[in-house]
Amino acid sequence: MGNPPKNKQVTNNEDTPIISVRHVSKIYPVEDDEPVKALDDVSLDIYPGEICCIFGQSGSGKSTLLNQLAGLEKPEIGAIRIQNTILNRLNEEQLAVFRQKHIGFVFQSYNLLGHLNALENVEMPLIFQGVDPVKRKQLAENMLIKVGLEKRMLHYPRQMSGGQQQRTGIARAFVSHPSIVFADEPTGNLDSKSSKQIMEMFLKFSREFHQTIVIVSHDQETANYADHIIRLSDGKIVEQIRK
Ligand SMILES: Nc1ncnc2c1ncn2[C@@H]1O[C@H](COP(=O)(O)OP(=O)(O)OP(=O)(O)O)[C@@H](O)[C@H]1O
Ligand SMILES: [Mg+2]
Repeated sequence: MGNPPKNKQVTNNEDTPIISVRHVSKIYPVEDDEPVKALDDVSLDIYPGEICCIFGQSGSGKSTLLNQLAGLEKPEIGAIRIQNTILNRLNEEQLAVFRQKHIGFVFQSYNLLGHLNALENVEMPLIFQGVDPVKRKQLAENMLIKVGLEKRMLHYPRQMSGGQQQRTGIARAFVSHPSIVFADEPTGNLDSKSSKQIMEMFLKFSREFHQTIVIVSHDQETANYADHIIRLSDGKIVEQIRK
């Protein structure tokens, strides 16, 4: 089970993991070849407010694990619990609703909608949550100011640099204050200066809003920002470090 990280304030629910994974495996069938065991009996706990990095080489199973944790794929072997919900018990539709309510995503390639400006992109999760138009514009503007894009709110993705697009992606992931934000190689397309800026934003928002962050990376510099590093190799956890 492991102990909660030492550098956190201890409140009542901090002893309870926000994410619990037990004996999860994932096997991909491959036509005319042997199946690939992308995850092999993975068990782990992530605590509220942690910045956790899933770390490992290409092909080690990082994205497969993230997709399972984030409810993008239904767990088939083993069990995953997020807060009080056991993901195995949800069907695809219920998983989608669960993600909208509780989870934010940041992607390596930003995944902004090209026909919407920065402000409209950041408003998207709030539209799904039924927040009224005046309120959601205000929340999205505040978030874009926090990520330093006050002068880019009406710009379209193609009019922004990679770093600016990713800051928009971060504003979108955090605007609805989801309990967990998942990010797959969020700095993978960025230079080292922009990467640093992005990681510092994750750190700041995680501390400010007490949100749990799970980041996939193969990059040691990115992993250094984490409180909890889970190292994967060939689909297995080979090391866990808590600072
Ligand atoms: N749809 C699939 N069908 C078959 N094999 C797959 C599929 N998706 C992933 N795999 C295999 O599962 C293993 C883990 O893949 P995964 O994408 O999780 O790795 P990763 O650690 O995220 O790698 P990278 O750093 O390159 O993104 C790899 O060996 C990969 O080839
Ligand atoms: Mg990957």
